[in-house]
Amino acid sequence: MSATRQRIVSGMRPTGPLHLGHYFGVLKNWIELQDEYECFYFVADWHALTSEYSDPSRIKSFVPELVKDWIAAGLDPDKCIIFQQSENKHHAELHLLLSMITPLGWLERNPTYKELKQELVAKDLNTLGFLGYPVLQAADILSYLPQVVPVGQDQLPHLELTREIARRFNHLYGQFLPEPQAKLTEAAKCPGLDGRKMSKSYGNAIGLGEPMDEVKPKVMSMLTDTNRKRKSDPGDPEVCNLFPYHELMSSHEQQAEVREGCTQATWGCVDCKKMLLQNMETFLEPLHTRRKALDADPDMLWDILRRGNERAIAEAETTLTVVKERMHMVF
Ligand code: TRP
Ligand code: SF4
Repeated sequence: MSATRQRIVSGMRPTGPLHLGHYFGVLKNWIELQDEYECFYFVADWHALTSEYSDPSRIKSFVPELVKDWIAAGLDPDKCIIFQQSENKHHAELHLLLSMITPLGWLERNPTYKELKQELVAKDLNTLGFLGYPVLQAADILSYLPQVVPVGQDQLPHLELTREIARRFNHLYGQFLPEPQAKLTEAAKCPGLDGRKMSKSYGNAIGLGEPMDEVKPKVMSMLTDTNRKRKSDPGDPEVCNLFPYHELMSSHEQQAEVREGCTQATWGCVDCKKMLLQNMETFLEPLHTRRKALDADPDMLWDILRRGNERAIAEAETTLTVVKERMHMVF
């Protein structure tokens, strides 16, 4: 069966607990893809190190936490391969070999590189590791000869570089590496509690593992349509920070009810928030239950990673062997 399924590779950097923005932006897509594709999902801990090298101690604890977030959200280790980048040294060897054929200009021109460097001015990112980030990413991807890479918009330049590197390799050493296609997540919008992009650093996020008694006060204090001073003022869901959440978590009937109650001023924002909280709880409950099971049995998590690592290492080795043969590096 797996022979007929197309293959997918994607990774996430372990930089902190995941929130609803990650879920609706990326994870939901990953979860849906595991039935249709043969999926390799990995914790990109080396990639986290490129920007967090001066304080790497946190990355370590984020690695198992990230895997926990994934499985709690619905990634099923029996359906997909979950592994850790730094446990698979073949990525590093392929990175080195690909670095030989990657022109510096390609890396310096990379728009994500330029943007990130500006965004993170506080960190010194004038390092070889950071410049080479996309080459490592190309190695992550090409190790598995995938057809598809599910990523967000911001990762398109990196994927384009992966294809360029593959093309260069094929040109120099004969056709072997695929040029994988990006699969863009239909960005289900999940803004932060204040309407800006959801981000832990903005303090406007709801974590996937956050207990309901912490979620409740956050939702109850959300800003709604500011023109709606009292219940008798009609409101507009389109300008309300709350409504996007109804669109993600409430049924179509409920959404119609919200629109009606809001625009006709027949219900108040507190009622509206209570309905949302109910649905949020229904949504988060299975995630919290699965997380508890993982917390109760830490060995389970490491077993899952060990199994995934083994599979990934074997696959990457097969690819690397051919790459080395083509580059006359097998003796
Ligand atoms: N660069 C990606 C990000 O920041 C993470 C990543 C590393 C990745 N290697 C990858 C994503 C390979 C897809 C495929 O989100
Ligand atoms: Fe927002 Fe609901 Fe209040 Fe309308 S009723 S302004 S949608 S919280």
